[in-house]
Amino acid sequence: MEPGYLGTLSRADPLYEILQADVCPSVKDPVFHVDLISKRRVYKYTEEKSRMAIIGKFFLPDDPKPARALRIKSEFEKLHKVRCYGFDASPHYVVRPISRNEKIGLALVEEFISGKNLDHFIKKAIYEKSPGPLKKTLSRLASFLSALHRRTLNGKRVDLEPVFAYYQKVLSKLAAENVLLEKERLGILKLVEKWLKRPRLSADRASIVHGDATPTNFLFTENGDVVAIDLERMKDADAIFDAGMVCGELKHAFLWRTGNPYAAEPYICHFLSSYCGPEGRGKRSAFRSITMKNPLYMALAEFRISRNNYLGRQYRRDLALEATRCLKWGLRI
Ligand SMILES: Nc1ncnc2c1ncn2[C@@H]1O[C@H](COP(=O)(O)OP(=O)(O)O)[C@@H](O)[C@H]1O
Ligand SMILES: [Mg+2]
Repeated sequence: MEPGYLGTLSRADPLYEILQADVCPSVKDPVFHVDLISKRRVYKYTEEKSRMAIIGKFFLPDDPKPARALRIKSEFEKLHKVRCYGFDASPHYVVRPISRNEKIGLALVEEFISGKNLDHFIKKAIYEKSPGPLKKTLSRLASFLSALHRRTLNGKRVDLEPVFAYYQKVLSKLAAENVLLEKERLGILKLVEKWLKRPRLSADRASIVHGDATPTNFLFTENGDVVAIDLERMKDADAIFDAGMVCGELKHAFLWRTGNPYAAEPYICHFLSSYCGPEGRGKRSAFRSITMKNPLYMALAEFRISRNNYLGRQYRRDLALEATRCLKWGLRI
């Protein structure tokens, strides 16, 4: 089914009662208009009279991707957990979870956020040659992420095992689909092993990270709020996991649309610099520490993106080779 308007929700649908009770108990005989937002079973419901809008995310009990079903089922708790750190109000918050019902495969009902995502500003920067709004938005995103990472910093050391396991998984897929040669895959894993032996990598303490810091998973509202959605992959990790993913996503977004591997650089520098906070004591050392670790996580993001079939074989390979260069280059810092 393609995304788009699907009609109204039947009163006989078990979801109707849930929405009526948990979303708009004061509306008499509510009518819910339904839009499919994403093929991954994400729907928007808009109540006709109150105009109240919410998002519903579903899973299949026999999902062919059981790992995703498990992740999505945990999103409700993850949202509550991170909101308890103060991310439940302007200007930085994560979307408010409202309800769920496993029996009907409903992982999450959450408030609908009206805002623009990062892709909107990336396209403006590229096609309208308007860099200002993207830079401003990246500063807003950087301040959201640095607040998240600072407030949730815990005493535990960063665990690098999952980073290696994720590299193995992503690279195996790329080799299986002939985006990378087998000998390239082995060479990249050797580079990753070198990276993971660097003392600096495991010396830092873990924070809660968003875990899927892609351009569509943050919404920027008109009144200046930054709202994170899609916290399925939230976990404890090095804070640079999120920052590196934003950098990898920026690199790809510009490379894909312009063919220029350097086009994203000013934005990446701007984002990292904003992430390190205002000028002053500590900024320089924070920036140095981040740029030392960033290539490992940025390359991971680029390899991860190059798994996407819709990008075309040649571009997927170009991006994977770019990621390999990033890993090699970073080892020289
Ligand atoms: N609370 C929300 N408010 C507004 N739009 C949302 C909300 N949740 C999801 N969306 C839209 O639906 C898309 C897919 O939802 P998301 O939670 O990111 O799931 P996934 O990326 O795992 O499919 C998002 O990129 C966004 O466009
Ligand atoms: Mg998403």
